[in-house]
Amino acid sequence: MLEQPLNSKLDSTLRLESTVSTTPTISSINTAGQAKVAPRKKITTLTLRQKKQRGEPISMLTAYDYPMARALDQAGIDAILVGDSLGMVVLGYANTLPVTMEDMLHHCKAVARGAQSALLIGDMPFMSYQLSPWEAARNAGRFLQEAGMDAVKLEGGSERSEAVQAIVSAGIPVMGHLGLTPQSIHLLGGFRPQGRDAQAARRLLADALLLQDLGCFSIVLESVPARLAGWISEQLEIPTIGIGAGPRCDGQVLVTHDLLGLFDRLVPRFVRQYADLNFEMQRAFRAYRSEVEEGVFPAPEHTVEMPDEEWLAFQSELQEVAA
Ligand code: KIV
Repeated sequence: MLEQPLNSKLDSTLRLESTVSTTPTISSINTAGQAKVAPRKKITTLTLRQKKQRGEPISMLTAYDYPMARALDQAGIDAILVGDSLGMVVLGYANTLPVTMEDMLHHCKAVARGAQSALLIGDMPFMSYQLSPWEAARNAGRFLQEAGMDAVKLEGGSERSEAVQAIVSAGIPVMGHLGLTPQSIHLLGGFRPQGRDAQAARRLLADALLLQDLGCFSIVLESVPARLAGWISEQLEIPTIGIGAGPRCDGQVLVTHDLLGLFDRLVPRFVRQYADLNFEMQRAFRAYRSEVEEGVFPAPEHTVEMPDEEWLAFQSELQEVAA
């Protein structure tokens, strides 16, 4: 098979020349073929709004740590969500309910150290915004003040209007989240698609319009019928970001661990797996284990030596001590 030349491979994912300065550009390629990506302009909530106006799809993915945030930023992803999916794909909980503010802030700080350009959104965990508008604003503020986030996301519609109002009036951008809202799985009866009958669809539309009126800069639509999500997106001036909500949302988001094949416990139907890193990890770990067991690793090039005379001096010192 003919190998694609390196440059054209890179061209297909990273545009060399762009009129949109929010797209990363390659400034040089080193001898190992690695592209050095020039910094791009900071993505803001306004950038997302402008992308919607221009009809340009918005890309969003989740990250929970420094290396992943760095890689997403270098790939030119518009927005990085530090999702409370953290609880499932990183911390091993059955759902997102046990995730705390301290868990979120810890991981948000790592992501903020890794990503300079993408819009950074911290997901408010269960019980951090439901009890009072004051507490909601206080906790939202911690995401920006302590953890380097640019915005927060929270789940729910009209039942969260006071919380959204309090946070927005504190000057903090809020992303809404409607449809399948995983923090309410017990109320919803599990991870189930939402908005599938006329009444539920009407409620979803009303909630989306309300969140826009309350000042949300964007709304995630999760696991709702594609035609409903498309229709809601057309009614709104703010961008919708879909997950399991079809192609007519203004942007798309996936949980990065699903996309990379790193989490196989629960793979929703709407996920496309772009890599099988679990397989790759197994291959690497098994290769390492057998090289250790066979004495092949570490090889001389991985080993630090000391001058012979120093070694001899060390040995004779030991003999003197023993004598
Ligand atoms: O927590 C999360 O990762 C999310 C996305 C799935 C939207 O809320």
